Amino acid sequence: MRRKVTVVGAGNVGATAAMRLVEKELADVALIDILDGVPAGKALDLMEAAPIEKHDSKILGITADYGQAKDSDIVIITAGIPRKPGMSRDDLLTTNMGIMRSVVQEIAAVAPKAVLIIVSNPLDAMCHVAFDASGFPKNRVLGMAGVLDSARFRAFIAMELDVSVENVNAFVLGGHGDTMVPLPRYSTVAGIPITELMPRERLDSLVDRTRNGGAEIVGLLKTGSAYYAPASAAVEMAEAILKDKKKILPCAVYLEGEYGIQNLFIGVPVKLGKNGMEEIIEITLSDEEQKALLHSADAVQKLVEDMQRLSG
Ligand code: NAI
Ligand code: 2OP
Repeated sequence: MRRKVTVVGAGNVGATAAMRLVEKELADVALIDILDGVPAGKALDLMEAAPIEKHDSKILGITADYGQAKDSDIVIITAGIPRKPGMSRDDLLTTNMGIMRSVVQEIAAVAPKAVLIIVSNPLDAMCHVAFDASGFPKNRVLGMAGVLDSARFRAFIAMELDVSVENVNAFVLGGHGDTMVPLPRYSTVAGIPITELMPRERLDSLVDRTRNGGAEIVGLLKTGSAYYAPASAAVEMAEAILKDKKKILPCAVYLEGEYGIQNLFIGVPVKLGKNGMEEIIEITLSDEEQKALLHSADAVQKLVEDMQRLSG
């Protein structure tokens, strides 16, 4: 049977993710937005590219009709407003909270077995909204951030050392914000720890650039935020699930004591397979790394409390 992925939000990240999904022939795609005509127009445009790109995946663009999301295997949620210059991720909280709640309620009614991949910001907080609004088990609510943040770190390492990106592995844990935790100790180039390949101050500057990776793109684009790499990151997660790859990727998941963190979504390494998140991988952290992760968790916790206050 053909697999189905619904992408909610036909904006920059959503439409690019839809494009990558069909071009990789991972699934048929339902692309949903509240805007009239936009999802249908983008879907038709992508269907017209299919003969050239040589894929037979189908894509349908729909305005606010969740019937088309029925029985989706995966739902990628990008609906919301993006961060604008000068705006923090946290400023997005109030608007995106309402959008996320309404979208997830619609999805849970028609696709009760789907795995949710949340993209909308502030990411870790939006995962909480999706978890509460869906009632889904924790293995089927995942946030995309660590794959993107790690890809940025990997890209910067490859640029710095002038090596293939394929040689570079890196992990970024924690919340998707300024407190994220890049882990140089677990980052390698062809198996060699990067701590042996560049001086400490260069490494520190790449870590800083990674932490500010989203803001760097916002500053350049001026009218929106990054979308090529975010779409690739969400699709890498979807592919691991659709193909039951058992791939280990950093994703925001609900922790219940792992890493000493309780009842909070935060980015940690997990195994992705057909059931969504199949295992939380607990790696050994140094005292400094653990402290940084807990500091990041505090920032997410504060957002969750802000949301509770806003919800009355
Ligand atoms: P965009 O503005 O291009 O697209 C958002 C789309 O959502 C718009 O087409 C809008 O009409 C739609 N939308 C708004 N309310 C909706 C609703 N109730 N139902 C369905 N669709 C609705 O924004 P972009 O660049 O695609 O970013 C989307 C979200 O993803 C933002 O919140 C952004 O901050 C976040 N983001 C998160 C990343 C991460 O690492 N987790 C990376 C990049 C973006
Ligand atoms: C990013 O990191 C805006 O969260 C988004 O690019």
